[in-house]
Amino acid sequence: MEFAVDREDQVDSWQEAMLVYHAALKQINTKLEILNDEFQHVHRYNPIEHIKSRIKTSESIVKKLRRYGYESTIENMVKYINDIAGIRVICSFTSDIYRIADMLRSQSDVRVISVKDYIRHPKESGYKSYHMLVTVPVYLSDRIVDVKVEIQIRTVAMDFWASLEHKINYKFEGKAPEHIRRELVECAKMVSQLDARMLALNEEIQELSGEKAPASADL
Ligand code: GTP
Ligand code: MG
Repeated sequence: MEFAVDREDQVDSWQEAMLVYHAALKQINTKLEILNDEFQHVHRYNPIEHIKSRIKTSESIVKKLRRYGYESTIENMVKYINDIAGIRVICSFTSDIYRIADMLRSQSDVRVISVKDYIRHPKESGYKSYHMLVTVPVYLSDRIVDVKVEIQIRTVAMDFWASLEHKINYKFEGKAPEHIRRELVECAKMVSQLDARMLALNEEIQELSGEKAPASADL
């Protein structure tokens, strides 16, 4: 590991930092599970299909710090790397994404630092997802630390596209030939159409079964 954690006190700060990031992931995970359970109780359906979380590896942290032009220190890592703790929330329908984001945003201990809406503004690659950078307080024995967590919210279909696109681009080390990139953008459009049709279908089914499509104000 090329991280500057050879001295004993640095090893200790590294372990403490990782502990704190893990705690922040647990907090957000629990919040999401509670929201999902409540939603199931009120509306009889789960907006969340599943949740994945991860802590960035030390190798990736070092790589990113180098890319940003910073020395690999714990201080720089905490200050400049926003996605050490990352959560991916996979929803059923596009409308669920904004619902989940709003419900999290309205919690008094969650502070939203920034939002990147790649659903309304997809990336050139065709990538769609809703990104929120938040902080949550983690209560330690002697202090409270505000910890950054990157939350990516997307539908099952968006996740399917992103996983495969990542695999394909990885093979080409991010420099896929033009026709493959174009094809991936086309696939992303198909994924969006699929999401739109599934959403319309769901709304129709809810109307038929006499249930109103849940509005975010219902909670
Ligand atoms: P990173 O340095 O990758 O963290 O990007 P960034 O700091 O510019 O942030 P951005 O919000 O653009 O991307 C953060 C994360 O979103 C990435 O690490 C990926 O997980 C995902 N992502 C962004 N763009 C793409 C894309 O074109 N394809 C796929 N598959 N994932 C993407
Ligand atoms: Mg990242």
